[in-house]
Amino acid sequence: MLHDLIIEGKIVNPDAIHDAQIAIDNGYITAIRKQGLKSERKIETQRCLIFPGFIDLHAHLREDSSHKWDYKEDFKSGTAAAVHGGITTVIDMPNTPLPCISSDRLIKKKELARTEGLIDILFYGGVSDSNINTIATMQKEVIAYKIYLAETTGGLYISDDVLPKAIAAVEATAKPLVIHCEDQRVIEKMRERLKVNLLAHSELRPEEAELSAVKKVLAAASGDIKTKKNKIDIAHVSVYRTLDLIGKRFHCEVTPHHLFFTKKDVQANAFLKVNPPLRSEENRLRLLAAFKSGKIDFLVTDHAPHTKEEKARAFFEAPAGVPNLDTYGNFVAWLIVHCGVPPMLIARVCAYNPALFLRLHDRGSIEVGKRANLSILDIHKPVKIHSERLYTKCKWSPFEGYEFPGAVRHVISNGAVVTEYEELYI
Ligand code: NCD
Ligand code: ZN
Repeated sequence: MLHDLIIEGKIVNPDAIHDAQIAIDNGYITAIRKQGLKSERKIETQRCLIFPGFIDLHAHLREDSSHKWDYKEDFKSGTAAAVHGGITTVIDMPNTPLPCISSDRLIKKKELARTEGLIDILFYGGVSDSNINTIATMQKEVIAYKIYLAETTGGLYISDDVLPKAIAAVEATAKPLVIHCEDQRVIEKMRERLKVNLLAHSELRPEEAELSAVKKVLAAASGDIKTKKNKIDIAHVSVYRTLDLIGKRFHCEVTPHHLFFTKKDVQANAFLKVNPPLRSEENRLRLLAAFKSGKIDFLVTDHAPHTKEEKARAFFEAPAGVPNLDTYGNFVAWLIVHCGVPPMLIARVCAYNPALFLRLHDRGSIEVGKRANLSILDIHKPVKIHSERLYTKCKWSPFEGYEFPGAVRHVISNGAVVTEYEELYI
């Protein structure tokens, strides 16, 4: 049989690495063999690693039907940045100008994403004080729900008094749940105390705020969540002690910035203001060690684009968040080459685990019958990050000027070759 496309090289799955050919037809993987497959088109990927398409569980693509924040990012630019970063599926957060808390808003967002998005975009439904009793009406439109326990961009958060009710409401839908764990009460106490010194973002939102919020989630959620049908994921863990607190009860995410930067870096570059904030070097090293030992389930971007003008405002007024989609693949190369992270662990945290968590059974590993979504990484191609080469609309990167050891060579999305290094074909 003559296949549509063959990709040849080192295939990395969560539990094995081997050299083989992958045949692709009509958007799906139809055969995997050591050799002998025939096709119209063949891509040889010497010195590269072929991963299952990366799935970003946590991105802010900003667009909704109000189009108020399209100047920061939209579905087209956001997914172009994702493809540049090697991502084939992206899950969009609900804190848009019109918070995504009803099926009506979700349907409008989905339609925009369908026409503009370059890859698969799926959506979180937001939980607010006003929709706790009606979140089930959104369940057809969402892949998972999101709860914020503190103020952040967009102002979508709930008070901790209603947390048990909110968790129970999500459990009733049987959908996964992601929780932003910072305790608003701790932040407010700190704001009172700091008053004149609001420059200290990491003091305004101290480690205690994260730990306190996680404890509240532990108290509000019942049973061993990982073994139940329902699943909770603690968003962007910034404090290594959070990992000890949650043990095996919840899933958890980490971002590139929390594995790479510290609060010292914020003093040199105020654009690194982010929620939750960056912490100490010791904390960063412990998070990295936990990541390497497989204790963290997902590597997410928390891509949170704001313009350079917005980020250049007085520090306490500037919005929090950093863009991360374009550089995700470069960062993965850094983890492999500089930190010794095993490629199989990358396949797990960047593709397999997110697919399992979201119950996306058609992706997450390289197997016959799965969607042909592949992220092909050249780990021997040093790349210096230059903002003008990024696809994100905000055109800056926390990694500006940094040289990473590798880059995304190709992205295959539903069987189509959509990129070669920095060139996008879509
Ligand atoms: C995010 C944003 O800008 O939407 N900002 C951030 O600092 N991470 C919101 C969030 O995830 O808290
Ligand atoms: Zn976020």
